[in-house]
Amino acid sequence: MKTVEETLLKRTSVRRYQYDKIPAETLDFIYRAIANTPTSYNGQQFSVIAIDDQAIKEELYAITNQKQIKTCATLLMFCADYHKIDVLARKKGIDNPHFENTLDGVMVGIIDAALAMQNAVVAAQAAGLGSCCVGYARTANPEKIAEILHLPQGTFVVCALTLGIPRESPDLKPKQPLSLVVHHNHYRTDDMSADLEQYDHTISEYNRHRSGTTTENDWCGHILDYYRMALDYDMEGYLNKQGCKLPFTPKKKE
Ligand SMILES: Cc1cc2nc3c(=O)[nH]c(=O)nc-3n(C[C@H](O)[C@H](O)[C@H](O)COP(=O)(O)O)c2cc1C
Repeated sequence: MKTVEETLLKRTSVRRYQYDKIPAETLDFIYRAIANTPTSYNGQQFSVIAIDDQAIKEELYAITNQKQIKTCATLLMFCADYHKIDVLARKKGIDNPHFENTLDGVMVGIIDAALAMQNAVVAAQAAGLGSCCVGYARTANPEKIAEILHLPQGTFVVCALTLGIPRESPDLKPKQPLSLVVHHNHYRTDDMSADLEQYDHTISEYNRHRSGTTTENDWCGHILDYYRMALDYDMEGYLNKQGCKLPFTPKKKE
C-alpha cells in the first residue's frame, strides 16, 4: 500500500488500463472504503453500481464516448439514493417527507455520492490502481443510462469512476496555488487577478509541453467553453423523471 502522502499528492487521472481484472481483495478494500464514507445525518444517501459486464460497459461507452469506460476493469456508477430509505419507511409504515424533492435534499445526495467516489479514488490509488471520474456518465443521455442501470425513483447518477491497472503514468497537472485555494479566516479581499493570470499561464505552458497530446489551451477560456456546453444539459428535467420533484420548470425538448 502507498503512503498517504504519495497517494494524495502523486495522484493523476489514469485513462489507459491493462486488460487484467482487479484482484477481488483489492475491490473488497475499495468497497469497504466506499461504505465507510462520512454522510449527512449518517443517512448514506448513495449507492454504487459496480459494472464488470463488458456488454454494459460497451453500451455506456456508446452513449458517453469516453473510451476509459469500455477499457477499464471495473466501472463504478455513483448514484444519489433516496430509494433505500423509502423502501424501509414503507415497510415500517412511516410517513416519508421526501427530502429528495428539495434542492438541499438533492445537494445532500450529490455530496454523499461524491465523497464516496473520492474514498474510492483514494483507496484505488493507495492500492496501486488507476482511476478516472467520468462526468459524462451523468450528462450524456441520463434517461437512457437510468434505463440501462434499472435506476428506481429517488436515485440518479452523480458520476462514474473507471478503475484498472494503469497502462500510463500521466504528468501531474499543475493545480491552483494555495494562495487561491485556501483563504484565511475570510474570503480574500485583495485583487487576485495576478495570481489567476499566473496560473492561466502555468496551464498554457503545461498544455504546450506535457507528455502525450499537447494543446494550445489556456485554463480560463477552456473551462468557460465547458461551462458553455454544460448550459445545454437538462439536469432539472432528468431529476424530475428520477423522482426528485424540485419546484422548477423543466426545459422543453426542441
Ligand atoms: C466530477 C468529475 C467529472 C469528470 N469527468 C471526466 C470525464 O467525463 N472525462 C474525463 O476524461 N475526465 C473527467 N474528469 C477528470 C478531470 O478531467 C481531471 O480530474 C482533471 O483534469 C484534473 O486532472 P487530474 O485528475 O489528473 O489531476 C472528471 C473529474 C471529476 C472530479
